Amino acid sequence: MTTQATTTALDVTDARTGKAYNLPITDGAIRANDLKKISTGEEDDPGLLSYDPAFLNTASCRSSITFIDGDKGILRYRGYPIEQLAEESTFLEVAWLLRHGELPNQKEYDEFVHDITYHTYVHENMRKFLEGFRYDAHPMAMLNSAVAALSSFYPSSRNIMDPVERNISIIRLVAKVPTIAAFCYRHLKGLPFVYPDNDLSYVDNFLSMVARMTEPQYQANPIFSKALEILFILHADHEQNCSTSAVRAVGSSHVDPFSAMSAGIAALFGPLHGGANEQVLRMIEEIGHVKNVPQFIESVKSGKGSRLMGFGHRVYKSYDPRAKIVKRLADQVFEVVGVDKDLEIALELERVALSDEYFISRKLYPNVDFYTGLIYRSMAFPTDFFTVLFAIARTAGWLAQWEEMLLDKEQKIARPRQIYIGPDERPYKRSIDHGHAVGQQKDALRQ
Ligand code: CMC
Repeated sequence: MTTQATTTALDVTDARTGKAYNLPITDGAIRANDLKKISTGEEDDPGLLSYDPAFLNTASCRSSITFIDGDKGILRYRGYPIEQLAEESTFLEVAWLLRHGELPNQKEYDEFVHDITYHTYVHENMRKFLEGFRYDAHPMAMLNSAVAALSSFYPSSRNIMDPVERNISIIRLVAKVPTIAAFCYRHLKGLPFVYPDNDLSYVDNFLSMVARMTEPQYQANPIFSKALEILFILHADHEQNCSTSAVRAVGSSHVDPFSAMSAGIAALFGPLHGGANEQVLRMIEEIGHVKNVPQFIESVKSGKGSRLMGFGHRVYKSYDPRAKIVKRLADQVFEVVGVDKDLEIALELERVALSDEYFISRKLYPNVDFYTGLIYRSMAFPTDFFTVLFAIARTAGWLAQWEEMLLDKEQKIARPRQIYIGPDERPYKRSIDHGHAVGQQKDALRQ
């Protein structure tokens, strides 16, 4: 990867006019805005647009946070290989690294851990807010609403250009999201909420808020604790994915970070994104037995059934490096708690898919979500809750990306263009009786 801007140029001739243009290329990209210069010269021609639904080939920003080489299966945070961070680091160290660009020194780390630990409590009204949800509310819907609601507790967080306000908002979010997530879990289970324990580490405190019953202090299973720490590191950031783009786009309107992050949680909820971990497990349960795998794969290939969840990626066209680590981690967890009953189905799905022409030709490999669900289930997390675990970790990345976007002088409010394909101007012709509709509304109000 190069961090130096390298400039060359693209010579193009517009076949409509025969005019030649020279468009600078910087870091392998032309500026879409330069295409505006290419025009037929007719009065109503605003210049050439680039058309890129779903951003298949459009860089929306310059970022120094996360690097992915999808062909080689490389993922690095701030230059550090994900494998080394997963092996050596802690989640909070990675959260610091993502935001600040360098690993923290001891003093910085200790202060950061202290700040996070002392901001884990949420306002008591937040528990009342969460108690208002139905007993079977999806925890991602609860988390999303609760994070958006946090904005109302911290009105000064709207001063996003004040570095002190930005800092405390980021600390509050990294600290409080696990508390809210655990409260959602307890609501789901009909159990009393457990308050944070400041003597525990970030991950152990989360596990305590999830699982503590009558014991004075919760002792997390060290294997679970280590596994969750690694899973949080693996999920902490992933450059310009759907949810991060949502946080950046919403944040670009200069709304407060709580509101911007709730947009990210909403995007993550979807089954094509973070919600895939939940869907993988539902898919495996539906397959039911290893003997049904070939039939299931055929239904995927025919397009009649669902997609093979946990497979494929917009950027990775080889094995997702996170999936490799997760698969090894699953083996370690299963050594302690026993092999998950559905592991055999997952392994067979992977084996069949990786040797099938459909998946080979489309470069579809397991992604991070393929094996995480099996680990989460062996830790007794309910399926509905898997994506919440993803969201806790991704909070660090969303906020680092949000701040980078705000401080980037090139960024403005996100506002894509469109190619209008609707009707031309036409005169309005009334086909309903407005008076009748108003009458109905009045009747409804009187009832
Ligand atoms: N199962 C079957 N076919 C697939 C799959 C899949 N999981 N993924 C892609 N394809 C096919 C797709 O039908 C298309 O075939 P064709 O060219 O014949 O029309 C081709 O592969 C390219 O697919 P695409 O939809 O154009 O690819 P994309 O880059 O837009 O989508 C994806 C990427 C992740 C949404 C997609 O691979 C998918 O739906 N995977 C399943 C959901 C999933 O596991 N999501 C988690 C992603 S990783 C974690 C995260 O970042 O959230």
